[in-house]
Amino acid sequence: MKKQLFITLAAVTAALGSLAFVQAQGNGGQAENQEAPAAQAGELVQPFDFPHEPHVAVNQIDCQYCHFSAERSRSAGVPPLATCMGCHTYVDGEAQAEDIAQIRQFWERGEPIPWDRVYRVADHVYFPHMRHVSAGVECADCHGDVGEDISVIQQVNQPLTMGWCLNCHLEMDASRDCTVCHY
Ligand code: HEC
Ligand code: HEC
Ligand code: HEC
Ligand code: HEC
Ligand code: HEC
Repeated sequence: MKKQLFITLAAVTAALGSLAFVQAQGNGGQAENQEAPAAQAGELVQPFDFPHEPHVAVNQIDCQYCHFSAERSRSAGVPPLATCMGCHTYVDGEAQAEDIAQIRQFWERGEPIPWDRVYRVADHVYFPHMRHVSAGVECADCHGDVGEDISVIQQVNQPLTMGWCLNCHLEMDASRDCTVCHY
């Protein structure tokens, strides 16, 4: 099953590869005007490591307590600093006590924490979180086991290619109409 999935994915990716090539040539092989794509493994520059594990696995905080808009909008949302302060006004931390001190300094200065974005689809693609959440697709199906395996999010756990989307849409009988994903 896993193997079959991989083969289909490889085929679609290969087919798209040539499209991408043509497109890349069309604008001189550069993509300067596009917004920066999500960083790949090792390229992220976060202000400090945010460990999902003590929040998700240990304290059983629901994903949507922090990623508050996943159920009702296109983006899942990144928690505002006020959400952190609800607890870290009191919770000091141990191993990362310095980072907790930093969080409080951001708060005193009235600045948001400048998180680097990890996952981002191409500009011409529409990805609605709410449709997936309401269809019962789990966060972990797409983002992996955030909390245990990948406590500090620092790599794209899946490729965000068209083949990846289509494969699941085929399996779960969701739409494969070009216009649902492309503007
Ligand atoms: C206490 C708040 C909190 C909880 C609970 C939480 N997260 Fe996060 N999450 C964050 C913060 C802060 C970031 C930004 C830092 C980072 O990317 O490492 C983040 C980043 C992410 C990202 C990457 C976002 C991007 O930049 O593309 C994903 C995916 C994610 N979380 C999924 C989850 C899932 C799934 C759960 C539940 C199992 C969860 N989170 C629970 C606070 C939280
Ligand atoms: C519902 C309460 C709650 C919220 C909301 C919350 N945290 Fe935490 N956080 C905790 C608890 C409890 C721990 C574990 C503390 C410990 O082990 O000493 C923790 C641990 C941490 C740690 C590791 C501390 C250490 O020394 O190991 C960091 C960093 C952190 N949180 C950052 C954040 C950030 C950033 C936010 C906002 C996006 C946030 N937390 C939101 C409760 C919360
Ligand atoms: C069907 C796959 C899928 C599911 C299910 C899913 N995500 Fe995502 N997630 C993505 C994709 C794709 C992106 C990039 C979207 C974009 O660039 O517009 C993303 C981006 C994010 C981000 C980046 C910031 C933002 O505002 O979107 C966070 C945080 C996140 N997801 C958290 C979650 C949480 C929490 C859940 C479960 C409630 C979840 N995701 C369910 C695929 C998924
Ligand atoms: C793990 C499975 C899975 C993955 C991966 C996935 N989707 Fe979906 N998608 C679904 C399901 C299930 C639905 C809900 C269908 C429904 O509501 O009837 C859906 C619905 C949608 C819809 C709404 C379709 C409509 O009929 O209006 C869009 C748009 C969409 N997905 C885009 C994407 C994009 C873009 C990606 C890749 C970046 C992606 N999806 C990856 C399972 C997935
Ligand atoms: C379920 C969502 C989904 C559907 C349906 C879909 N696409 Fe895509 N498509 C994507 C995603 C995601 C990408 C971005 C791939 C990347 O960035 O690697 C993409 C990229 C592309 C590209 C650009 C190639 C590239 O590498 O950037 C073309 C051209 C394209 N799609 C055409 C189509 C056509 C034609 C259809 C209908 C037959 C279609 N797509 C249906 C999600 C979808």
